[in-house]
Amino acid sequence: MATAAFFQPQHFNLSGLQGISDETLEMHFKLYEGYVKETNSLMEKLDQLSQGKEMREEDRLTFGELTRRLGFEYNGMVLHEHYFGNLKREGGEPQRGSAFVAAVVRRFGSYEAWRTDFITIGKMRGVGWIICYQDPTRNRLSNHWVTLHEVGNIAGFKPILVMDVWEHAFLLDYKPEERAKYIDAFFSNIDWKTVEQRLIIAPANKA
Ligand SMILES: [Fe+2]
Repeated sequence: MATAAFFQPQHFNLSGLQGISDETLEMHFKLYEGYVKETNSLMEKLDQLSQGKEMREEDRLTFGELTRRLGFEYNGMVLHEHYFGNLKREGGEPQRGSAFVAAVVRRFGSYEAWRTDFITIGKMRGVGWIICYQDPTRNRLSNHWVTLHEVGNIAGFKPILVMDVWEHAFLLDYKPEERAKYIDAFFSNIDWKTVEQRLIIAPANKA
């Protein structure tokens, strides 16, 4: 069975963000690399156990436990790539005529209403993620809370904008009760062009 790494960590050039320090980012990149490493390690172990033949009872137990852990590590890797990928220096505001703004206006009535909904979810207690998803089959956007990395993701939905609200994302820059300040900083660093490019545009809506 192949033992080569399945994934390599991606690199993000994000120094100089507003309100999210380079120190925080360096620490956060290391945490992300840990998810990549652990995802590779779990996949390798699962491949070694899954040889296409009946497993011994003790191997089945190990296989099941590692498979459960894979959802945590794999989502941790992918969601961090989305998070870092939708940040940039001097992010600014989304273009009012963009497909993203048009989509949130259809669903929420206004960009401001969508933003308020997203931020309200972001202020919920607990650690996790706020994700604006697109339902590709109905071309509809909605905001969701994801506990840890794997509880609350909607099957088949596409992450469009992803915000990390685990405390490691902001504790070097803000106090635990200052999450709202981190969320403000996050919004001033959003790469709206990337957000726009993540949208799946139905052929009928492309013109
Ligand atoms: Fe994180």
